[in-house]
Amino acid sequence: MKEDNENSSSMVPSTLEICCIGAGFVGGPHMAMLAYKCPDITVSVVDVDSKRVAAWNSDKPPIFEPGLDEILGLVRGRNLFFSTDIKGGIYRADIIFMCLPTPTKSNGLGAGFAPDLKYIENSARQIADVSDSGKIVVEKSTVPVRTAESIRRILNANERNARFQVLSNPEFLAEGTAIADLENPDRVLIGGDESLEGTQAIGKLVEIYAKWVPRERIITTNLWSSELSKLTANAFLAQRLSSINSISMLCEETGANVDEVAEAVGADSRIGSKFLKSSVGFGGSCFKKDILNLIYLCESSGLSEVAEYWRQVVVMNSLQRRRFSSRIVKELSNSVSGKRIAILGFSFKKDTNDIRESAAIYVCRDLLKEEASLSIYDPRALSEEIKNALSIIRSEAGLRDKIETVSDPYQACSGAHAVAVMTEWDEFKELDFKRIFDSMKKPAFLFDGRNILDLKDIEEIGFHAFGIGRSSEKA
Ligand code: UDX
Ligand code: UDX
Repeated sequence: MKEDNENSSSMVPSTLEICCIGAGFVGGPHMAMLAYKCPDITVSVVDVDSKRVAAWNSDKPPIFEPGLDEILGLVRGRNLFFSTDIKGGIYRADIIFMCLPTPTKSNGLGAGFAPDLKYIENSARQIADVSDSGKIVVEKSTVPVRTAESIRRILNANERNARFQVLSNPEFLAEGTAIADLENPDRVLIGGDESLEGTQAIGKLVEIYAKWVPRERIITTNLWSSELSKLTANAFLAQRLSSINSISMLCEETGANVDEVAEAVGADSRIGSKFLKSSVGFGGSCFKKDILNLIYLCESSGLSEVAEYWRQVVVMNSLQRRRFSSRIVKELSNSVSGKRIAILGFSFKKDTNDIRESAAIYVCRDLLKEEASLSIYDPRALSEEIKNALSIIRSEAGLRDKIETVSDPYQACSGAHAVAVMTEWDEFKELDFKRIFDSMKKPAFLFDGRNILDLKDIEEIGFHAFGIGRSSEKA
């Protein structure tokens, strides 16, 4: 990576200070990239979680992202600082990014669909209390349309009569490729108020991104278009996955092969080949939450048919996960009770330690309900987080004893009746499956939830092997 100092004569003043509230999967990498590309800007990332902040300040950051450590090594302590001093960070900043969680509400109006905006609202109040002058406040978190309005109302109700500008600048990075996505984004989207002050605020943020992003890739819109574009982008991506996964079900019934269908369909340049890899189901912190958010928006706008249309994307994803766990049970003579199943991969995709909404959680829960014992291996996900994610069944007598997390894939598979590949980690393609087969109970089964293995080779070893969207074990 080449450090970009060429634009140091930019309009952005050299004393500019940025504060990011929320040192998570979005805030951490994004601010690291910003500090790296803009050595003249001081960036403070603040967070309520002191353990997380300490981890960011150590040589073991709380998240794993290829290329992140390298950048942190260059900028941390230079112009990037992690701290719990939220008030200090806000007070000093000219621009404040909100990278806070917006989880789906579990109680009250909109429960199960609408996002809970309490963290955003609390931070807006804190900004209003602490600031002695107007600032630019940037929504990075994915939020419902018109959230900027509520933020602005809170900010502008401050006692010092300071005037704030609220911008929407949704983040499109995908985990596992965050650094590459941040360094070379398809687009940067900035929405703001259409007034003179709003336009000036947009201009300021454009100047910052223009230090490394070509201008033609920086899109500016009004606030509501920007907020809605983020929800729409995630909904479209998830919709593609549910579409190909729905076809995988049909493939299993008809003799077609979903990977071949995806290749043939994706070769049409109008459709394109990306995001057509059928799998055990999409996961991650965003897709489900954002579609539920969209459904809620549609319903509250009186568009029940539109809401119903999007709801099917989520329905299809749950069905895909359930079909996978049911298939394991069915192939193992309709019972996995007392059987050991090796789970290879627990993160929601490769190259991240994030397990939020991972399909593995749902499949494992189904198998535990069927009284299987699980031996789980993931190269990055933390054992404690895996166990917590499965804690829904912890209260059911003795079930916790049925979950084992191990640090070696061969150990996970040894003595198992079946292996289930849940994440497409590259290292799984390099495993010695003959060695795994020899260490397993017979007959030995393998279920590839990511279609990353050559099932013919696996079958030649002696496994009964199954993938996604193939008609039978010999297909
Ligand atoms: C979050 C949102 O979930 C997502 O909707 C949005 O698009 C981007 O921001 P992410 O960075 O993945 O995504 O969330 P997470 O990793 O949970 O990080 C949020 C951080 O905010 C945590 O470190 C948490 O401790 C911190 N936080 C939360 C605060 O500092 N203050 C709060 O009041 C609440
Ligand atoms: C997504 C969006 O891609 C990103 O733009 C947005 O900012 C946040 O939400 P993320 O959830 O981090 O990013 O990862 P993504 O690569 O989109 O994968 C989401 C899920 O879809 C993963 O479980 C992944 O394994 C699955 N997936 C993706 C497939 O099953 N098949 C594919 O072809 C692509």
